[in-house]
Amino acid sequence: MLTHQQLGTFVDAAASADGAQPREPLRIAVIGTGYLGAVHAACMAYQGHHVVAVDSDAGKVAALAAGRPPFFEPGLEELLAEVAPTGRLTFTTDYALTAGSDVFFLCVGTPQQQGGYAADTSYVYASARSVAPYLTSESLVVGKSTVPIGTASAVHAAMAELARQGVTVRLLWNPEFLREGVAIQDTLHPDRFVYGVQGATAEADIALLDRVYAASLADGTPRVVTDYVTAEMVKTAANSFLATKISFINAMAEICEAAGGDVVKLAEAIGHDERIGRKFLGAGVGFGGGCLPKDIRAFRARAEELGLGQSLAFLREVDGINQRRRDRVVDLVAQLSGGDHTGVRVAILGAAFKPHSDDVRDSPALTIATALQERGAQVRVFDPKAMANAKQVAPQLQYAVDLWDACVDADVVAVLTEWPEFRSADPVALAAVVRRPVVIDGRNALPGSAWTAAGWTYHALGRATAETAEPRKDTQS
Ligand code: UDX
Repeated sequence: MLTHQQLGTFVDAAASADGAQPREPLRIAVIGTGYLGAVHAACMAYQGHHVVAVDSDAGKVAALAAGRPPFFEPGLEELLAEVAPTGRLTFTTDYALTAGSDVFFLCVGTPQQQGGYAADTSYVYASARSVAPYLTSESLVVGKSTVPIGTASAVHAAMAELARQGVTVRLLWNPEFLREGVAIQDTLHPDRFVYGVQGATAEADIALLDRVYAASLADGTPRVVTDYVTAEMVKTAANSFLATKISFINAMAEICEAAGGDVVKLAEAIGHDERIGRKFLGAGVGFGGGCLPKDIRAFRARAEELGLGQSLAFLREVDGINQRRRDRVVDLVAQLSGGDHTGVRVAILGAAFKPHSDDVRDSPALTIATALQERGAQVRVFDPKAMANAKQVAPQLQYAVDLWDACVDADVVAVLTEWPEFRSADPVALAAVVRRPVVIDGRNALPGSAWTAAGWTYHALGRATAETAEPRKDTQS
């Protein structure tokens, strides 16, 4: 296998830095091949660059090299197939193949620390240390991972210690905002680029990254240049804002439930105010996934370390509201079943934290299924894409082979992830297979009036007037 050095492509120093397509492709290394790294590597190769993507997980690397993503992301398999014949994309476990790269992207995860709220940045430091020996004064390291305030400076210092003598280490922080399920679209056509720069090479660093993103910049994607700390904060601030918006509407849902309102109508009405906007006002079982929950906790943990806990104290409440929505469904199942969970058969529709993903990290659906089972209910879970991951993290649960199988003889059907096939399920046909036609619409995604007309007792979170309920419009994107 050729290293980037051997490939012989080189940076065309004459290319402009203001968004023009590079005359020569760049040599790019991507460290980490999870949701972020694999998609980023494939997209960069698609845009004409030569990409070497490194991961220490040999199984993941082998799967990606064979064109089979180890996770579900719409369009990624097709993109890998399109890029493969060009020879521009290599997956490897060998860091040495990154030698000669112009740009090294750090795309590793920063999960929640075991037993704490702070982010575990050990993979970021490990990847930075691994690339350090391959850096030259011409190459640029670009951090894309979500990191606590102060990480970029510390990573720069760690690499400077390990770089070869005389090499000026150049680091730019460029947070990623991709959403799972639409990650390719978000990578090729992002809302914005954020460049956090520092030091004497800042201008040259910006110019080099502009060349990587030339195609997207030429499309008019805005670019915000700032310092390291602000760039680090942009990502966690954005995710905190989104989480707050969801918890805000879920707090309204709690009030609606008690006072007899309809949170979907409420969201629609306030969303017409352009200053508020309708997006991310989808009430239901709340947010999960690998980003929003852990990012708000890590942000708060870092603020506390900085003696600024009070500034982000509200995020504790955002988290608390989010957790309460899960509890609410657990309670509702008992309420709808004579006050007790014991022996209640519950069909759980959904396991992924959101549709069009197989990611079950901090999934509301799996948390609810687990809590119900612990209280004596008999759950049967089905998800169109996340079954393998769900079985891995929650092997104690019962799994069905399809939507129908999950619903056979159910006392309560709970729709917890709004997959299209659940939204469009035929309530008349489903009523014939369940023991009792009782449905909990955990995402306000079903046509409530059609379910009611088919004889179902329909309960939606935050909607006391559910008989006339229409599903919420898609508010995620
Ligand atoms: C998020 C950010 O959107 C993205 O910019 C960042 O880079 C990573 O984190 P993602 O985790 O893929 O992306 O999911 P997102 O679409 O934001 O949804 C997060 C969670 O919020 C999901 O569980 C979703 O079901 C829930 N959600 C979203 C709601 O409950 N209501 C809404 O209105 C929107």
